[in-house]
Amino acid sequence: MKITVFGAGYVGLVTAACLAEMGNGVVCVDVDKDRIALLNAGGVPIHEPGLDGLLQRNVAAGRLEFTTDAAAAVAHATLVFIAVGTPPAEDGSADLAHVLAAATTVGRHMRDYKVVVDKSTVPVGTADRVHAAIAHELKARGTPLPYAVVSNPEFLKEGAAIDDFMRPDRIVLGCDDEQAGLLLRAVYAPFVRNRDRLLIMDVRSAELTKYAANAMLATRISFMNELALLAEALGADIEQVRHGIGSDPRIGTHFLYAGCGWGGSCFPKDVRALLRTGAEAGQPLSLLQSVLRINQRQRALLSDRVEARFGSDLRGHVFALWGLAFKPGTDDLREAPSLTVVDALLERGAQVVAFDPVAMPKAAALWRGREGFTLADTPLDAVRGASALLLLTEWREFRSPDFDALKAALREPVLFDGRNLWDPAQMRELGFEYHGIGRGARTAGADAAVPLAPAAALAV
Ligand code: UDX
Repeated sequence: MKITVFGAGYVGLVTAACLAEMGNGVVCVDVDKDRIALLNAGGVPIHEPGLDGLLQRNVAAGRLEFTTDAAAAVAHATLVFIAVGTPPAEDGSADLAHVLAAATTVGRHMRDYKVVVDKSTVPVGTADRVHAAIAHELKARGTPLPYAVVSNPEFLKEGAAIDDFMRPDRIVLGCDDEQAGLLLRAVYAPFVRNRDRLLIMDVRSAELTKYAANAMLATRISFMNELALLAEALGADIEQVRHGIGSDPRIGTHFLYAGCGWGGSCFPKDVRALLRTGAEAGQPLSLLQSVLRINQRQRALLSDRVEARFGSDLRGHVFALWGLAFKPGTDDLREAPSLTVVDALLERGAQVVAFDPVAMPKAAALWRGREGFTLADTPLDAVRGASALLLLTEWREFRSPDFDALKAALREPVLFDGRNLWDPAQMRELGFEYHGIGRGARTAGADAAVPLAPAAALAV
């Protein structure tokens, strides 16, 4: 089948590459000339395992093309995916300018029936606005043409996006048009041999499903993070509690890991957007408000603990950071806990030396010229002479480092493990002063009882 994808960003590229991989003829269009030139020269503008090879293979096979020519892209296919960015506007709502611009472009260039598929994460009611934008263009042209707008939210995890697309646990299609439904079923059939995984529902329910899924996951983590602090106050171990509750199939084992907070390009943006949607609909989401507040506190937890341990004047101290990306498998620094921690440590006069296996180029660009911040070539280089090591991202290579070498390199053998990657008993055995998150009684001098920000402080 012929397919057009608007947007050569993260979601657009993964969507285009995976659809081409299944034999479809895909044209991916973007307004960013540099990005398209880079893609046409064989480059890949984002880090995502497996994407590189998939793009190369499908371009070589003639199934995938990149262009800035919107008219030709619209003419190419009946099925047009919109996978452009929806960055947060100042009030927390999703900015739909790019989505509506793409819809307008489709309306301007279409000559026959089109099925327009919203893949971008968009608030409930956006399909209606996309519909209206296309109608407006058709009216201006004086050419009434048939079309349908479908909601098909993505559930792609960074670092596992190709696998999530190729082997989805579900595909949500919000569709009120029979012909469009048939077309999309045909496109997705090869991805879901088990038909139960294709969930067809009304458009608004599909739009809400995406936000509900991310908000639920963020809620689970914030719940565990808050419980971790309680565990410390009570002398319990959140890791044991996690095992204890996760074995109940009603709860399940995923997304129950306490840590130094959730980040990334989706959770924070989507939680804020859903809060805004709730407020606008006269149905404020008070639970979700707490979820966000707990996370803001959690992201500052490690730097607060450093302060509690070393004092608020950190001049003369060097702190080593392992991991800057918001999670392993990506170079994405958006809303990463490292941003909060680095800022807080530098503000208190400390020096920060960081290492991340993949995010170094992005980190170099982000913190360039920032006094007191440097990047190290190896994990061990980062810790040399440091007063403590802070682990922020649970990259695999940090799981079993040479602890003797680590201890010898540190000025003081102090570990702040923001991802509960290491075993507290083993670390103490090895002679480290270990601070995990929710791992039994708090170490003296590392009090974590930082109060939550008042609700009024939040911009939602
Ligand atoms: C998320 C959703 O999982 C995906 O379905 C959606 O389409 C986009 O948003 P992503 O942002 O790539 O994907 O990251 P994810 O793996 O979900 O992790 C989000 C954050 O939660 C990370 O900062 C991670 O470190 C944190 N996390 C995750 C925890 O702190 N504890 C956990 O148990 C799980």
